[in-house]
Amino acid sequence: MGENAIEIEGLRKVYAASGNQPPKEALKGVDLTIPAGSIFGLLGPNGAGKSTLINILAGLVVKSSGTVRIWGFDQDRNPRQSRASIGVMPQELNMDPFFTPRGALEVQAGLYGVPKSQRRTDEVLELIGLEDKADAYARNLSGGMRRRLLLGKALVHNPQVLVLDEPTAGVDIELRQMLWQNVRRLNEERGLTVILTTHYLEEAEEMCDEIAIINHGEVLVRDKTSALVGRMDAKTLVIHPDAPFEGSLDLPAGVELERRRDGALALSYRQSQSGPEAILEAVRKAGINIRDVKTEEPDLEDVFVSLTSSKPAA
Ligand SMILES: Nc1ncnc2c1ncn2[C@@H]1O[C@H](COP(=O)(O)OP(=O)(O)O)[C@@H](O)[C@H]1O
Ligand SMILES: [Mg+2]
Repeated sequence: MGENAIEIEGLRKVYAASGNQPPKEALKGVDLTIPAGSIFGLLGPNGAGKSTLINILAGLVVKSSGTVRIWGFDQDRNPRQSRASIGVMPQELNMDPFFTPRGALEVQAGLYGVPKSQRRTDEVLELIGLEDKADAYARNLSGGMRRRLLLGKALVHNPQVLVLDEPTAGVDIELRQMLWQNVRRLNEERGLTVILTTHYLEEAEEMCDEIAIINHGEVLVRDKTSALVGRMDAKTLVIHPDAPFEGSLDLPAGVELERRRDGALALSYRQSQSGPEAILEAVRKAGINIRDVKTEEPDLEDVFVSLTSSKPAA
């Protein structure tokens, strides 16, 4: 296995027309590599194409064109191996209420062709914290427990890549924390590559080493989370001088000046690099009397919206 757990090239998916619904191009030629051993976030608003991508990886949706390699196995040439390399926790809570957690895990292992002697049902039950509910009927499990059971089902065949589709949408904070702990542990202790989709920016920021932002079936940006967060800590100090100012400013490193039409000086900086004190000092040194000052600060939401509402660079 090389350094990428997943390699996707030119991936397209067009859902066929049905009824009066026209055909839908859900993925428009996606190229994406996901490093082995990482926790990778696929971030995007509803309808972006996240589940389509995930479901293609899982073998649940048939792609229209492009290539997908999972753990080095081409999905078309080595369908069995590529499928065995990945486990998916789906977005929907599809659970048969007549199964117990133990039963559900056993059935799932059977579907994946895991021989009885190699099953790890008790280990998985422990991992998801359902040992004491192993023999309870699924209909008697709380929503949180059912989610954990879905996580367990994704792990029965010991895949190298774990995919979680919106694992925390609509779950309470406690369960969210628990899921993340489990996922981190799997990543750290077993080197499991984890791919998760979410529309919560903060969640992606907290959990993921790298993030791809996807919208309308296209990848808009893909970067290390730290680099994306770097873009996000941009702040702007908007200074209105009491008289028009045409001169130059001796600004601290990394601060950028934009002169606005109304005569305001907009000074952008990164909180991690500079601060208002140093900027105001430079402004005063230039002999500017400040009539008014305000700050502009994109919150995470703004950054996300600005990225997902603009077209990618050609
Ligand atoms: N089975 C399907 N048939 C037709 N269109 C679909 C189907 N599944 C998803 N779509 C459409 O494809 C687009 C991407 O959907 P999806 O991959 O579910 O996005 P996300 O998971 O990011 O919310 C949406 O416009 C959605 O309506
Ligand atoms: Mg989805």
